[in-house]
Amino acid sequence: MNSNKWVRRIHRWMSMAFTASFVVVTVVVLTQEEPAEWVYLSPLLPLALLFFTGLYLFVLPYARRWRGGRRVAHAE
Ligand code: HEM
Repeated sequence: MNSNKWVRRIHRWMSMAFTASFVVVTVVVLTQEEPAEWVYLSPLLPLALLFFTGLYLFVLPYARRWRGGRRVAHAE
């Protein structure tokens, strides 16, 4: 249970890091004629973390069902 909370927290903070790095890259690209290659690559690390933590969050409710857990009631 606790690890789920941590993955969600990492995903949330990485979304902010990713958005911030994207803004920085956009500003650098707009102000410099030929920005260094690493500038383009810098949002990829938070994006990769978002991808893996996001996949984990996506699979969580299904994994709970596969394990025979009780279905979480949604407002339907
Ligand atoms: C790269 C692939 C990504 C996947 C597979 C993914 C998947 C998910 C999943 C499954 C959830 C949980 C939804 C729920 O509550 O049931 C989630 C939450 C969220 N995602 Fe992603 N996501 C991805 C990328 C991103 C990106 C690029 C951003 C924003 C820059 C983002 C921002 C968020 C935020 C803010 C939440 C809510 C977290 C919270 O509980 O506070 N995600 N994502």
